[in-house]
Amino acid sequence: MLPKLPDCLTNFCPEVGIVLGSGLGFFAESLDVCGRLAYEQIPGFPTSTVPGHAGQFVYGKLKGRKVICMQGRFHYYEGYNMEQLSLPIQLMSSLGISTLFLTNAAGGINTLYKPGDFMLIADHINFLGTNPLIGKGDENGLLFTDMSAVYDSNLRSQIRVWAKDSDISLHEGVYLATTGPCYETPAEIRAFASIGADAVGMSTVPEAIIARQLGLRIIGLSCITNLAAGLSESPLSHDEVSQTADKVKNIFARLLAGSVELV
Ligand code: HPA
Repeated sequence: MLPKLPDCLTNFCPEVGIVLGSGLGFFAESLDVCGRLAYEQIPGFPTSTVPGHAGQFVYGKLKGRKVICMQGRFHYYEGYNMEQLSLPIQLMSSLGISTLFLTNAAGGINTLYKPGDFMLIADHINFLGTNPLIGKGDENGLLFTDMSAVYDSNLRSQIRVWAKDSDISLHEGVYLATTGPCYETPAEIRAFASIGADAVGMSTVPEAIIARQLGLRIIGLSCITNLAAGLSESPLSHDEVSQTADKVKNIFARLLAGSVELV
């Protein structure tokens, strides 16, 4: 059973959901805000424990679309289970969203990627060793969800064209999710490169899987905040992730808003 949400939010009827990743929460402030709902006010809802992640839904209008943003997401490495990671997506789906944008900070594995670049997620590799659909079957056989086209290819091509016309460089590639919370070893990154990963992060995949089962149209957008382990001289740090996200925040905001307008 999903928790009951306040009428002001259920009456809002959002069309688009956006999950904002590390250092990207500022984006919620670009909405014409209609309201906010702190996670702690939702019965049974987890609370965010990571620096740079506020803990609230912010909802309002963006480019004429009714949008709900998660300012602060939950990660497996915080100790939440797959059910808890699924809940926000299930709630946004129950509010009526049809399109979900999943954003994240990621380490660049593809050697063409530089910190501050953006990557549209074409596909993902679930390296979490678990799956949010485990135990979620019903008589419709929804356990065996098709994952051959998770990230909407029509909307992706429109976004690619829009980004090119807007002079925003945008890669497209494969996102691999690890549990974290430590960063990877150089040997792991070489292994991930060899199985086809272009970027690595600690989120997004559980949400994408549950959203796919719910039949949502999904777009994934990564901000490449650092070169993955072993690809640069310097050690990895959460500060570097936040600093890079902050440096490119205006471009990210333009790219995401432009993408939402295409929905
Ligand atoms: N690895 C995993 N997660 C990340 C990284 C990384 O290099 N950068 C930002 N999130």
